[in-house]
Amino acid sequence: MTIYCEKDYEAMSRRAAGIIGAQIILKKDSVLGLATGSSPIGTYEELIRRYQAGELDFSGVTSVNLDEYRGLSGDNDQSYRYFMDTHLFDHVNIDKSRTFVPDGLGEDPDRTCAMYDDIISREGPVDLQLLGMGYNGHIGFNEPAEYFEKKVHCVDLTESTIEANKRFFEKAEDVPRQAYTMGIGNIMQAKKVLVIVSGEGKADIVAEAFTGPVTPHVPASILQFHKDVTLVGDEAALSKLMATLSR
Ligand code: F6R
Repeated sequence: MTIYCEKDYEAMSRRAAGIIGAQIILKKDSVLGLATGSSPIGTYEELIRRYQAGELDFSGVTSVNLDEYRGLSGDNDQSYRYFMDTHLFDHVNIDKSRTFVPDGLGEDPDRTCAMYDDIISREGPVDLQLLGMGYNGHIGFNEPAEYFEKKVHCVDLTESTIEANKRFFEKAEDVPRQAYTMGIGNIMQAKKVLVIVSGEGKADIVAEAFTGPVTPHVPASILQFHKDVTLVGDEAALSKLMATLSR
């Protein structure tokens, strides 16, 4: 694993954008696995800045997003499709028809999951998968569990995730209770994985995920078995990991 310990969120975002940008420059038709949440917002802003400066060309890029709330349409401002459009896709020259997010309005969950699995197989393998990490070690919406789910699936969100995500909604009751997510198997099939973490609140789980036992109780711990992981974090989020590694 390669680790970049950056001073703060802005530096983390610049580093992550540099890695994603290099991927696009080296392979114009890259397939990017993308994430939502607060961690990648600065990275997407930096990618937009580089695109506007003429340094990046997204015209050949395909994207597959990790997850989507069940029950939200793409034009709901809390949906992950809306997030991706407003934070990245609307500001770069990516072909929108080549940007994929699970269908939040899919009526039949099994069919919705199978269709998204087919899209990932058809468009993949993902060249570079961007991941944030939840406070409980979740990646995508793969919450702590008894086993690793391989494929796209529909999950019941945990109270801790609902709690963490309610800041984006008017009230906690508005947070959807279910979501579609890539499985751990889908994520592990990416050729490269880029994890971004910031803030002191993530320090414990980051250290646990990368130095503790590999267990579905800490879903991100499976990344210890991936052969090409880059972790980019700010000093606060990486403090405990760095201390453990230097012992
Ligand atoms: C988002 C996603 C989630 C987030 C995680 C961290 O698409 O899959 O796993 O990456 O919840 O969220 P933030 O970045 O808001 O701390």
